[in-house]
Amino acid sequence: MGYEADLAFLFYNPTRVIFGAGSSGDAGVELQNLKCSRALIVTDKYLHEKTGVVKKVEKALGGACAGVFSDVPADSGVHVVDKGAAFGRERGADAIVSVGGGSAIDTAKGIAILLREGGSLLDYQGFQILTRDQTPHISIPTTAGTGSEVTYVAVIKDHEKKQKLLFGDHHIIPNVAILDPKLTLGLPPMLTAATGMDAFSHGLEAVTSAQREPIADALGLHAIRLIKEWLPKAVKNGADLTARGQMLIAATLGGAAFSNAQVGLIHAIAHVVGARHGVHHGTANAIAMPYAMKFNNDTVPDRYALVAHAMGVDVRGQSDEAAGLAAARAILAFNKEVGLPTTFKEVGVPESDLAACAEAAISDGAIVYNAKPVMDPREVLEVLKGAWGGVL
Ligand SMILES: [Fe+2]
Repeated sequence: MGYEADLAFLFYNPTRVIFGAGSSGDAGVELQNLKCSRALIVTDKYLHEKTGVVKKVEKALGGACAGVFSDVPADSGVHVVDKGAAFGRERGADAIVSVGGGSAIDTAKGIAILLREGGSLLDYQGFQILTRDQTPHISIPTTAGTGSEVTYVAVIKDHEKKQKLLFGDHHIIPNVAILDPKLTLGLPPMLTAATGMDAFSHGLEAVTSAQREPIADALGLHAIRLIKEWLPKAVKNGADLTARGQMLIAATLGGAAFSNAQVGLIHAIAHVVGARHGVHHGTANAIAMPYAMKFNNDTVPDRYALVAHAMGVDVRGQSDEAAGLAAARAILAFNKEVGLPTTFKEVGVPESDLAACAEAAISDGAIVYNAKPVMDPREVLEVLKGAWGGVL
């Protein structure tokens, strides 16, 4: 559990986090605190037209709302960010308020760059290349999963290349995150489960990554504890405000953990099957998790034993290796409990594409930080085959 004497790490999270039922009503005050007066709301059509969520935020902003950009799709793209930035510029926006899931918040991060720096999003692909603060950004998540409200990463799809691009920079961490459990009450059970397991995978991969460190450990393991206790309740009864609130907190903890310790093989696989076959990010992580854990277990069994403890799995008297496998099995059972599919076969990934998925995963940015170094696509293929057929 401990670290060697040569441990060195940087933990950075500047986001001001506000939690509470109804706290989205504070958006206007928070905007004033940032010394801004024209906020562009970035959201999706469903939230804007079919729910009252965006209207609530517009009301909270009052005369400081510069306009609503609601063209964010489920998997946002480079062109969406470019279009949103052009709209924001036209409206004279000096700040952004994102309302939605990871896609809306990540789109807003991209728009925040373009409003300050100009150009197209593709000019800024990569890690830590920005040199100054970007457009102020208040994030208001309506799902409890991505943790994007506190992370330094944006994942944006290049639809032409069928590739998910990673943008990582401390300058795109949102200034403020407003966690209002009332805004997640309408999330259907399947999405609640899938986004919840995305948060779980953030905790898990942070605790086991090659860049793991003690502050992220604390955040990641507590995220896992909360999700184990509250996700089944939020899935079963979407109106349970306590469960919704605990899940929002868990997602933010998971986000802060992986924004510092990074993710690994599980996310590399999820990025690829998401980009190539449209598998929901959280569902893909949930499916890949037990099988990637089996692959990593000879390298970080003590870490997976911590996960087993956090999940309340009784591993007394067991070796770390046995406890690590018990954690993988417990996660597989938990996926079933919350009603998620458990194989890539079920979600429509063709068996014939697994080799190409493995090749693509090797060049995904997340794989660099996997607990166990992964160099050979055949290793990823083995994990994918396990997750495709459901053989743990
Ligand atoms: Fe994720």
